[in-house]
Amino acid sequence: MYRLALIGFGNVGQGLAQILLKKGELLERRYGFKASIVAVATLRKGSLYHPTGLDLQALLAAGQAGSFDSYPTTPGLIRGRDPLATIRATDADVVVETTYTNFQTAEPALTHVCTALELGKHVITANKGPVALAYHEIAALAARKQAFFGCEGTVMGGTPALRLARMSLAGCTISGARGVINGTTNFILTQMEQGQSYADALAEAQRLGYAEADPSGDVEGYDALGKLVILANTVMGLTLKFDEVTRQGITHLTPEDIRAAQADNMRWKLIASVKTSPAGTTAYVRPERLPLSDPLANLDGSTNAITYLTDLVGAVTLVGSGAGPEPTGFALLSDLLELHSQDLLRKL
Ligand code: HSE
Repeated sequence: MYRLALIGFGNVGQGLAQILLKKGELLERRYGFKASIVAVATLRKGSLYHPTGLDLQALLAAGQAGSFDSYPTTPGLIRGRDPLATIRATDADVVVETTYTNFQTAEPALTHVCTALELGKHVITANKGPVALAYHEIAALAARKQAFFGCEGTVMGGTPALRLARMSLAGCTISGARGVINGTTNFILTQMEQGQSYADALAEAQRLGYAEADPSGDVEGYDALGKLVILANTVMGLTLKFDEVTRQGITHLTPEDIRAAQADNMRWKLIASVKTSPAGTTAYVRPERLPLSDPLANLDGSTNAITYLTDLVGAVTLVGSGAGPEPTGFALLSDLLELHSQDLLRKL
């Protein structure tokens, strides 16, 4: 039984709790996988810890209500521990970090992740900040502590962009990655093609839970840039830094630009690309007008896609949902299942 401490309980953390509620029995029957959420710590909703596990239905109801005050008090329940105290003082063996993304310092998530790993706890995160800014340091710490570090949910939500490259393409050298890896901007561009205004489309993306807390990160291209750095460093073995990527967002695109592309049978897409060659690495995020024959042109709504350039199988493209509570909650589950399969192998 995995004992989980969730640090942050927004869309993504609630998505994981919902999946565990819905699929707990199936996961146990099919994979022998059992998990219990013993602690949840947030800055706004409060914090809960119960040594025998929290009730998922009551937890989700309180999360929806925006405060854990409504979570029923039962013997043994402890309230009010802050995230770091929760990591240090609870007996969870897996910390699930889903606080907000900060691309400037990666905090407070970076401290949460490193504190948990230092204590020998496994860490699973969908938080892009620590992975974009400090992936190699975190991976080294996890290896030193023999702890698992999973970050599948940081790129393309639940669509297994990192796992495809790390596991299914293991043995290949990946020399390039090119994709549409921000759901909000693709949603906005698709809606604008249908005549919706930029402002209304952005508001709808926020309502649907695609956009970041500060959506300028999406529309100015920083979210795609952060994910591109994560791809480069986690699956291509690079040490790419933010300031080595040129960036342009979609805010300058007008309804006329969109219509002009449509008239030419083309579509605007926010493309993120990184390529390595003996001459060096080039990386950028920018809107491009793509012909409809390009596989990346045919993505609607918040759908994402990534094409890897490999030495042994050529170009491999993965298409799927790139944002949203349930898909990203699934990404966390997929990391938990990878940890579980590693534990099973160790026991053989
Ligand atoms: N804001 C992000 C997006 C969420 O729109 O793609 C998933 O990382």
